[in-house]
Amino acid sequence: MKRPSLLFCLFCLFGGSAAAYANPPGHALASAHPAATEAGLEILNAGGNAFDAAVAVSAVLGVVEPYGSGLGGGGFFLLHDSARNHTTMLDARERAPLAAHRDLYLDADGNVDRDRALNGPLAAGIPGIAAAWGHLAEHYGQLPLAHTLEPAIRYAQNGVPLNPELERAMTARAEVLLRYPASSIFTPGSPALSSGTRIVQTDLASTLGLLAEQGAQAFYRGPLAETLVAEVQDSGGIWSRQDLEQYQVVEREPITIHWRNAEIVTVAPPSATGVMLAQVFHMLGEDWLDGGDHDARIHRLIEALRRAYLERARHLGDPDHVDVPVQQLTSVEYARKLMADFDPEHATRSKSLYATEPEAGHTTHFSILDRDGNWVSATLSINGLFGSGFVVPGTGVLLNNEMDDFSAKPGTPNLYGLVGSEANAIAPGKRMLSSMAPTAVYHANSLALLGTPGGSRITTMVMQGILQFLQGADAESLVTSPRLHHQALPDKVFTEPDAVVDRERLEARGHVFEVVEPWGNMQVVVWDIREARLEAASDPRGIGSAEVEALHVGN
Ligand code: DON
Repeated sequence: MKRPSLLFCLFCLFGGSAAAYANPPGHALASAHPAATEAGLEILNAGGNAFDAAVAVSAVLGVVEPYGSGLGGGGFFLLHDSARNHTTMLDARERAPLAAHRDLYLDADGNVDRDRALNGPLAAGIPGIAAAWGHLAEHYGQLPLAHTLEPAIRYAQNGVPLNPELERAMTARAEVLLRYPASSIFTPGSPALSSGTRIVQTDLASTLGLLAEQGAQAFYRGPLAETLVAEVQDSGGIWSRQDLEQYQVVEREPITIHWRNAEIVTVAPPSATGVMLAQVFHMLGEDWLDGGDHDARIHRLIEALRRAYLERARHLGDPDHVDVPVQQLTSVEYARKLMADFDPEHATRSKSLYATEPEAGHTTHFSILDRDGNWVSATLSINGLFGSGFVVPGTGVLLNNEMDDFSAKPGTPNLYGLVGSEANAIAPGKRMLSSMAPTAVYHANSLALLGTPGGSRITTMVMQGILQFLQGADAESLVTSPRLHHQALPDKVFTEPDAVVDRERLEARGHVFEVVEPWGNMQVVVWDIREARLEAASDPRGIGSAEVEALHVGN
């Protein structure tokens, strides 16, 4: 959390420019879909705060980007309550069902059965989004769910216009979606698509309507919960009533990283990214941004990433189930030890080279700042494209396949090529390790809110976004800049076509490069506190939109 300097606090007492710190000149938001951005604005303009808008935006995203997030999934919300000067991480991550066990996805030969880990209700963790909405409405918002869920209900009832993104996702997952009758609403030729131009989600509209009327608890107890459990079990899943009854969101203390006069506030475990960012920044060292030989700096960056991803695989998991020594892992001394074998001329080898490349998944991010200085940075997911592909009959709820984020077998890569250890093994009620990283950065009197989908690449995208912001880049540059990624295994540097790296010179140091299709879908809000200026930007790789609305004096 931003701790105002003494000088700043003197202004707090005597008025002056500090007023601008608590009161942005308007509100700003960016999300992965224009309908969601519009819904957020609608709520803000109706007197709601950033937390109310977060409910509306996430609910609409679940309807209009059904392949990316929704009621059947989970995520992390980083929240800042301006009046209390309080920042917290709302953990709405899915949990493993109580009947899950370490070897749930192993076949008779002890190999991971990818189909069971990714497709159908056995792949689904217990969803957290409904509980997050309830928590936001009860503890942070000003409007009831009946108001904030209304835009999502409208879109579910009236239909979501098809767009190329949606059609591509439907085609990519058609085989799995066609296995389950209720999922056919997302397949070509279904009655929901009869007009050929919109997807109508009548069951989902009713489910959202029920939550609007009875509160989020209706997802976890009562008739809807009973239907969810019965249908999951009927199709081969292992959910129980206790799973839903016991589910709770958790408020956790975010990880705060101090680096070069910046304060980076980001996710704690069960996301891996906060710990990894601290490690990478400390491994780079505070002078990394000061210039010098470009290749040497990129080499150091790749080597730091390699080490952080290996650390992720070794140590990180759900802190409520395994001991994750966050203080130690994020310390400067620890980073120094990690870099003890750093060779400025030669690439270190990660243990082996996996043949698997990360596959496509989907997830969503949004950033919101309201006129009172409250903000939300949230990344939400059902994991892979269309999650498990299983829509629970009669409810419209599309379940996640987040169970694949566990390490189904130590050393075996998941959907994103990530490997893990005991720390991220499956256990009843445990949260699977994540890369999702809603983040806030305070630097030079400015605040940036950022995040993105991208599986294992979330960590490197957020890291690059932070580095750019610290060099004075604006919101637009953060979302547009070409990206680079290394995750230890596979032992390769992936770059977007326009990334600025001298490939030959880095190859001479032993790095292996591969240029791949652009990735990510970052959503950024920047507030220049001193200049009283707001910016918002949505990644051009996606179809999202960003809005800044200035408020007139006296508003
Ligand atoms: O929690 C995680 O790390 C993943 N389930 C996120 C998936 C994701 O970002 C897919 N996006 N392309």
